[in-house]
Amino acid sequence: MNNELLILGAGGHAKVVIEAARLCGLNPCAVYDDDASLLGKLILGVPVKGKIIDLPDDRSGSAFIAIGNTKIRRLIAQRLSKLNWPVLVHPAAYVSPSARIGKGSIVCAGAVVQPDVEIGEHVIINIGANIDHDFVIGDFVHICPGCNLAGAARVDEGAMLGSRTSVVPLKQIGSWATLGSGAAVVSDIPAGVVAVGVPATKSGEPRE
Ligand SMILES: CC(C)(COP(=O)(O)OP(=O)(O)OC[C@H]1O[C@@H](n2cnc3c(N)ncnc32)[C@H](O)[C@@H]1OP(=O)(O)O)[C@@H](O)C(=O)NCCC(=O)NCCS
Repeated sequence: MNNELLILGAGGHAKVVIEAARLCGLNPCAVYDDDASLLGKLILGVPVKGKIIDLPDDRSGSAFIAIGNTKIRRLIAQRLSKLNWPVLVHPAAYVSPSARIGKGSIVCAGAVVQPDVEIGEHVIINIGANIDHDFVIGDFVHICPGCNLAGAARVDEGAMLGSRTSVVPLKQIGSWATLGSGAAVVSDIPAGVVAVGVPATKSGEPRE
C-alpha cells in the first residue's frame, strides 16, 4: 500500500503518532527502535521490526519520528534524509488555513494553531497547546502539552517548552533552550539554558 508509514521510536509518543496517522488515512506498518528488547513487540498493533540505526541512509518511503527528544529527532532526520516525512494534524486539532507547517511535524489532539503561525520541520505541538497568531517555531522544537504561546513571539530550533509553559507576546526563546513545566516566559530566554518558574529564570545548562 502506498500510504504505508514507518514509525521511528517505540515509546509512549509512538502511540500518539500511530493513532494520529491512522486518523489521517495513513497506514503505520512497522515501528523501529534502537532498544533490541522491543523487537517483535506490538505498539497499538504495529510490530517493532528493527533498529533505527540499522536503517540504511538511503532508505526511501514515508516515515515519522515518534521521539520527544529534540536532539535525537534532529540526528535521525539528518541521517535519513531520503525519507518522505508527512505532516500529521489530528482531526481534533484546529489549524488555521494560513498557518504553515514543515515536513515531519505533528499537531496533536486539542491543539489550536492560529493564523499566520509558522511551524518548522519535525516539530511536536503536543495535546492542548495553544499557539496564537504570527508565532514562529523553529525546526525540532517540542511544545509540550497545555502550553499557551501568545501572539508574535518565537521559539528557535530545538527548544523544549515543558508542559503548561506560558509565553507572553513578542518574546524570544533561544535555540535548544529548555523551559521547565509551568514556566512563565516574560523576558527573552537565551539559547541553550534551562529556565524554570514564574517568571522563568535560568537554572542551569541543559542536560544531554
Ligand atoms: C526543568 C526540567 C527540565 C529540569 O529537569 P532536571 O534537570 O532533571 O532537574 P531536577 O529534577 O534535578 O531539578 C533541579 C531543580 O530544579 C527544580 N525544578 C525542576 N523542574 C522545575 C519546574 N518545572 N519548575 C520549577 N522548579 C523546577 C527542582 O525542584 C530542583 O530544585 P532544587 O535544586 O532546589 O532541589 C524538568 O524538571 C521539567 O520541568 N521538564 C519538563 C517535562 C515536561 O513537561 N514533559 C512533558 C513531556 S510531553
